[in-house]
Amino acid sequence: MTHPRFSDIGACVFDAYGTLFDVHSAAAKCRADLGDKADAVSRTWRDKQLQYTWLRSLMGHYVDFWRVTGDALDYALETQGVDDATLRERLMACYLELAAYPEVKDVLARLKDAGVKCAILSNGAPEMLAAAVRNAGIDDLLDAVLSVDELGVYKPHPTVYRLAVDRLGIAAGRIAFQSSNAWDANGAAAFGFRVAWVNRFGQRAERLPGPAAAELTTLSELPPLLGL
Ligand code: LAC
Repeated sequence: MTHPRFSDIGACVFDAYGTLFDVHSAAAKCRADLGDKADAVSRTWRDKQLQYTWLRSLMGHYVDFWRVTGDALDYALETQGVDDATLRERLMACYLELAAYPEVKDVLARLKDAGVKCAILSNGAPEMLAAAVRNAGIDDLLDAVLSVDELGVYKPHPTVYRLAVDRLGIAAGRIAFQSSNAWDANGAAAFGFRVAWVNRFGQRAERLPGPAAAELTTLSELPPLLGL
């Protein structure tokens, strides 16, 4: 797809889960134990994890993303009739070492070389994000790793996107925000970011305010979108 270039971008801000890190790589590592339930567990785990972030934000009952991730996994395992505490702990441990998508490191390095600041803005609890970033070997390529945890509310609440503006000291209109989660892309665009929706999974567009300005297939298309 062709889009007008994003010009005068001061920083690239990335969603973490599903965008930089493959959330389904945890269940994939435990496929030998989960058998033909692996894909269903992984899908329900992710769906419930996101639903709980939205619901808890609406209810005003925040707990951090590690707790939400565990609750969602318990729901998914129970749905599939899996009752195995050791496997549950292994799946949670794998969530701290999710695989990064193959292009991530090169793209971040390319942006850094061009003098563009790079940051993560994620629902993830700080320790979870630190572990994933360390595991992917991208620590040195990031200027900031920002978590909703200090706000006590999840995306797509606008205060979350505001955190990136405040921390980076760059106006929303000069921030390129990348997410594979369509609803997050909409939330960020409605807030005022220039948004590239990384539609890794060939999903339909959400019928929500703030459509993304660009749609990519992988992050490899980001440097050209910025004219790099
Ligand atoms: C995150 C979720 C939305 O990283 O994937 O914020």
